[in-house]
Amino acid sequence: MSFTIVDQCTPRLNRSEQAVPGSNTRFLEKAAQGAADVVFLDLEDAVAPSDKEMARKNIIEALNDLDWSGKTVSIRINGLDTHYMYRDVVDIVEQAGDKLDLIMIPKAGIAADIYALDMLVTQIEDAKGYAKRIGFEMIIETALGMENVHEIAAASPRNESLHFGVADYAASTKARTTNIGGPNADYHVLTDPDGDGNRNVHWGDMWHYAVARMVVAARANGLRPIDGPFGDIGDADGYTAQAKRSAVLGCEGKWAIHPSQVELANTLFTPSGEEVTKAKRIIEAMEQAQKEGKGAVTLDGRLIDIASIKQAEVVVRKAEEIAAK
Ligand code: GLV
Ligand code: MG
Repeated sequence: MSFTIVDQCTPRLNRSEQAVPGSNTRFLEKAAQGAADVVFLDLEDAVAPSDKEMARKNIIEALNDLDWSGKTVSIRINGLDTHYMYRDVVDIVEQAGDKLDLIMIPKAGIAADIYALDMLVTQIEDAKGYAKRIGFEMIIETALGMENVHEIAAASPRNESLHFGVADYAASTKARTTNIGGPNADYHVLTDPDGDGNRNVHWGDMWHYAVARMVVAARANGLRPIDGPFGDIGDADGYTAQAKRSAVLGCEGKWAIHPSQVELANTLFTPSGEEVTKAKRIIEAMEQAQKEGKGAVTLDGRLIDIASIKQAEVVVRKAEEIAAK
C-alpha cells in the first residue's frame, strides 16, 4: 500500500445523471419531479445557438423557483472554446449559484481548463458571499482529454466526477461509428474454424479501453466515474448491457438522455439483494477467519482473503448509501 492517501470527493449518489435541455421549460419542471440522483441542466449540445440566451434564463428561473430537494443539480456549460461559456458561468452562478451543486465542464482537455473555471467560480462565490462551494464534473470526450485524464481529475479540490462522453469521443478519435454508445458489429473477433469450417463472430466492446482508463483516473483521485449517454432510447436491453459493463468496470452511474433511462440506471447501479447478502457473508467469514488467526479461507468453494473484505465493503457501503436516500 502506498503511503499516499487518496482524498475522496463529496459523497453523492450518482446512479442516474439525467440530461435536460435548458431550452425546454416543461422538461425542466418534469425533471425536478423525477427520480434521477443527479440532473444536469444543459446549455451545451442539446441547445441550439439561437436558444443559448433563453436557456440560460430558463435555468436561472428553474434553479430559483423549482423544488430540487432530494436531487443533486448541475449545469452543463458550453465549452471553454466558445464565447457562451463565460456568460453561462457568470450569469447563472451570480443569479442562482447558491442553488447549484455542480458545474459540468464539457470537452475538458487539459488541467488548466479546470483551473480557469475554478478561478472564475471562486471569484463569483466570494463576491456573492456564498457559503457553499460548487463542485465540478468533467466530461472526458476528446482524445486530448483522455490523454490528460489523470491531470484533469487532479486539477481542483472542487472535482467530483469524470464522465465518458462517448459521442464526442468517437468524433474526436475519428472512430468509424455514428452511434451514440453501444457496441459495433465491426468490432469483433472470429473464432478459429470448427471441424466443419464454421467460425463464430464475437462482438467486443469498442469502449472498453476508454471507460476503463477513465475509471482508473477517477478512482486514483477519489472521484466518481460515470458512464455517459446511450443514444438508442428505445433499446432498454442495449442500455442495460452497456450499464452493466460499465458498473463491472467501476462506474457508479450512467447518463439518462431520456426519462425512461432514469429508472433503469437507478436499478442497474443499485447492488442487488443477492450481491449484498453475498458481500455480508464474505465479511462475516473473514471476521471469523481473523479470530482464528487465518488470513484466507474458503467460502462456497472459493478462496477469500483480506482483499475480499475490501471488495465486499464497497458493495455493502453502496447499498447503505442508497438505503439512506
Ligand atoms: C456527451 O456529451 C457525449 O458527447 O457523448
Ligand atoms: Mg459531448
